[in-house]
Amino acid sequence: MARRTLPSRRSAGKASLRKHTPRLPALPTFRVNGVERTVPADGERSLLYVLREELGLTGTKYGCGEGECGACKVLVDGVAVRSCITPVAEVVGRSVTTIEGLADGDRLHPVQRAFADLGAFQCGYCIPGMIIAAVSLLSTTPRPTAAQVRVAMDGNICRCGGYLRILEAVHRAAATSRSSAGRSL
Ligand code: FES
Repeated sequence: MARRTLPSRRSAGKASLRKHTPRLPALPTFRVNGVERTVPADGERSLLYVLREELGLTGTKYGCGEGECGACKVLVDGVAVRSCITPVAEVVGRSVTTIEGLADGDRLHPVQRAFADLGAFQCGYCIPGMIIAAVSLLSTTPRPTAAQVRVAMDGNICRCGGYLRILEAVHRAAATSRSSAGRSL
C-alpha cells in the first residue's frame, strides 16, 4: 500500500495554540518526552511533521491533516493539541509529550494499561490520539462523569467504531489512577 504523504505545513483555517505564528529563533528548541530537542528553523512546519519525519516519533499518527480526527494529538504542557495544525514555532520553549513518552520504563501509563487490559482497539490507528486525549482529561478531572469523558473524547474519530470500549477504558483508567493515588497517600 502506498505511504500517505505527510504535508510539512499546517492546514489553514483551524484554531491552534495561538492566533499568529511567532518569529522563530534561529534554531527552535523544545522538550520532547523530557529531552531537549533542536530542529531546523522554519516555524511553519507542523509539529506533527517535525515529530514524525525529523524526530522519528511515529507513534503520533497522521489521519486527516486538517484538525478533524484527533489521531495526531500530543500533550503540550500537559494539554492535548492536534499536532497537524500546530506550527512547530508555537511549541518553542514548551514541553511536548507523545505517546512514546507516557510509559515509565516498562510500566505503562494507567491509561495505556486500561486500553490494553480491555482490548479497547481494533486496527489501533486512532489509539495514540485517544490515549493522549484521555491523559489530558484525567490530569485535570480525575473523577470525570460519563458526559465529561464523552466531551473530552468527542474530537477523536475511530473508523472501526470501537467507541464503547474506548470510553470504558477511560473510566477504568480514572478508577485505577484514583486507587493508586489513594494507596500512595
Ligand atoms: Fe490531526 Fe486528523 S491528523 S486531527
